Amino acid sequence: MYKKIRRLLIILAILGIALMILGITFTNDFSWKKYAVNYKFEKQEQIEYYIERNIEDLSVILESSAEWTAARDRILMKDSDWLYENATGYLADTTSFNIDQVYTSNEEGDFKRNYMREIFIDIEDLNSYKKAIYDDEKSVELAWDGIYPVLVAASPFYDNSVENPTGCMVITRVIKEEEIKDLKRVLVSSEIEEIFISKNPLYKELVTDGFGEIKVSIPFGLGGKYLYVNIDAKIDYLTDMFKVQGRVLIYILSVVAIAFIAILFKNTKVLVRKIIVVIEAVEKISAGNYHIKIEEDKSKMLPEVNILIASVNKMSSEVEGHIQTIEEYSKDMSQKYVEMIELLVRTVELNDSYTYQHSFSVSDHALMIGRAIGFDDLENLELAAKLHDVGKIAISTGILNKPGKLTEDEYKIIKTHSQEGYNLVDGIDVFAKAKEAILYHHERYDGKGYPVGLKGNEIPLMAQIISIADVYDALTSNRSYRKAMECEKAINIIKKDAGTAFNPELVEVFIKEMQKQIKEKHNKEEV
Ligand SMILES: [Fe+2]
Repeated sequence: MYKKIRRLLIILAILGIALMILGITFTNDFSWKKYAVNYKFEKQEQIEYYIERNIEDLSVILESSAEWTAARDRILMKDSDWLYENATGYLADTTSFNIDQVYTSNEEGDFKRNYMREIFIDIEDLNSYKKAIYDDEKSVELAWDGIYPVLVAASPFYDNSVENPTGCMVITRVIKEEEIKDLKRVLVSSEIEEIFISKNPLYKELVTDGFGEIKVSIPFGLGGKYLYVNIDAKIDYLTDMFKVQGRVLIYILSVVAIAFIAILFKNTKVLVRKIIVVIEAVEKISAGNYHIKIEEDKSKMLPEVNILIASVNKMSSEVEGHIQTIEEYSKDMSQKYVEMIELLVRTVELNDSYTYQHSFSVSDHALMIGRAIGFDDLENLELAAKLHDVGKIAISTGILNKPGKLTEDEYKIIKTHSQEGYNLVDGIDVFAKAKEAILYHHERYDGKGYPVGLKGNEIPLMAQIISIADVYDALTSNRSYRKAMECEKAINIIKKDAGTAFNPELVEVFIKEMQKQIKEKHNKEEV
């Protein structure tokens, strides 16, 4: 999965870089002029704002001195000392007003005072001066002192009611280093290369070189002159471009991040879904359904999941194979076990030739009773029935096969076969449930049996069942001392012994089942 994501991220990154290059190219080729024009107007607005602020400031300062009755009177009185002390000198010498020159004159021109710092302008040539002295009008204008632009404000002296103008007052502010710094601050990051004024309004307004450099000359019309500020817009341009590129980069990174999250989310969903499928399959396999195989993810979006699926499928196949082997082995073992038991039974029968097939017949009848009463351990009933006389191995063949009636001692020896059989199988796991039936198969319901003399249901049920089957088969088999009895006669004997030798309920079941068998046998013979 990670390989896939990594691959996608590389593709997205390449795509992002390509988009960025395209973005820069697009900006350069198509947006450059638009940017420059917008830039020019933006800077022009900023410069106009700066100049207007300066003019306003200058006008306020001028008005506070020129529109003053006492000052008007003093110019008429040609009181140079008063004017210097209260108005002109105060403005010229106080740095916080940022005034470079204060010039006063009466209307006749015979009283002129110039309070100036380093400034080289012929005030009387300025239009603003002429307007003030001849037309009694306030005005501002731009001047040029040969090095710096100069902002000039001129006003006639008025009395307090703004009447009776006379003479004039001119104040100037040179736009030099300090002001240019201030202008730079207003223009934010621009580098001012040149600043001057001209009467010519058509200076090159906009120069671009196509490589991120721009020169803007911004005219500022004032008093028939123009203030030009040449700005190297490279810094602004690059700053703006970085902002644009930064935004583009953020967009691209966002797209990459969103794509990444989307891929991750999608893959997580697919992954979770696939893992659930795998978990469900593993649960089924663990429950024994080893044939289950999980389908591969055909989209191949998640190769790791397919590896997991392949591993689980391989595991289930191998387990299935092992289980089959075990089952086959188990089946084989069971077969061998059955063969072993039969061999044991036949060994007993070899010693007791008159009871040939006896054990198998007892087993058949015991199972018949067991099935009829719903006995829950038919397997051990069958085993016990087949091996009930296994103890006869310990009895001499002379006694077992003796023709005629046994002596009392011989009969005692014969009776030990149930205990001998128990002793033989005791301690072997497979006979654990059968051994008591072997031991007690000669016990009687009335307690007169052997080897212990257990009574009624003290006798294990398995032993009670085998007891009936055993006696019936003995009666219906040829013995050394008598011939085989007819079925009906044997059944009657069993019936007669119900409640004494045998459990009456089991006898009833036995007779019922035997009658069914006999009836079926007759029916078959008739057919
Ligand atoms: Fe027996």
